[in-house]
Amino acid sequence: MANNDTIKKTVIVALSLCLVCSVIVSTAAVVLKPAQEANKQLDYNRNILAAADLLEEGADVNELLKQITPKLVDLSTGKFVSVDDVDGISDLAKYDQNKAAKDPALSDKLSKGDDPAKILRKEKYAKVFLVQAEDGSVEKIVLPIKGYGLWGQLYGFLALGADLNSVVGVGFYDHKETPGLGGEVDNPAWKANWVGKQMYAADGSIALKVLKAKAPADAKHEIDGLSGATLTTRGVENLFHYWLGADGYGPLLNNLKKGEA
Ligand SMILES: Cc1cc2nc3c(=O)[nH]c(=O)nc-3n(C[C@H](O)[C@H](O)[C@H](O)COP(=O)(O)O)c2cc1C
Repeated sequence: MANNDTIKKTVIVALSLCLVCSVIVSTAAVVLKPAQEANKQLDYNRNILAAADLLEEGADVNELLKQITPKLVDLSTGKFVSVDDVDGISDLAKYDQNKAAKDPALSDKLSKGDDPAKILRKEKYAKVFLVQAEDGSVEKIVLPIKGYGLWGQLYGFLALGADLNSVVGVGFYDHKETPGLGGEVDNPAWKANWVGKQMYAADGSIALKVLKAKAPADAKHEIDGLSGATLTTRGVENLFHYWLGADGYGPLLNNLKKGEA
């Protein structure tokens, strides 16, 4: 009988097993990638609809999306631009501003003093989503937002109503905050707290505050804090201030108010 208990045979069996397993894992990764990407896109779209208060359980997401028009915005001017006029972006449907923020041709590095949301680089172009009335006026606008919490970047959407001030919805589709603490940003009750709140004061300054405690019932600009998660809530306030301000969507919102976007 052949002796199987040799170092050579043990090594051959171990290496063969590694090879077979790595082929299985690599094949699974390649085969499943398109399905993963499609699911990610579906989740992104569901979050846009949820922020705009247009998500209906059981309804077809692609049908619901027909109510929404994506638009490319030059963040430096706050004006809508066509992909035909922008080098490096050829298809609006495929444009991913989070990926663009990592591309030196499509983003700018932020210095520490200019980066309260701690995003490190800012994309030059944002893809926002409009819900328009028949006459073309903006009924709702969904703005992608992001910024650092405690453990990493939070990515989400802020939807404003026709006054470009009152919140229609807020949600984060990706973050690394701790479930039960900072992860409570996903809590439907906390998100409901944002609805109807005004982001700007009458003089146009950003008035939003995320409190440490509970906001008074009649608060116009104040949001309840998340208990045990002061650092996440501070990050959330910072990122909202950044994206609502002059370096974020401030110029776009001002242009839209004047009908000049
Ligand atoms: C394991 C662990 C996870 C934590 N996760 C979070 C978090 O996601 N967000 C957060 O703001 N604080 C988190 N904290 C708590 C912070 O360290 C800090 O104590 C807290 O933000 C203070 O909030 P408070 O002033 O409301 O108590 C975590 C702490 C521990 C030990």
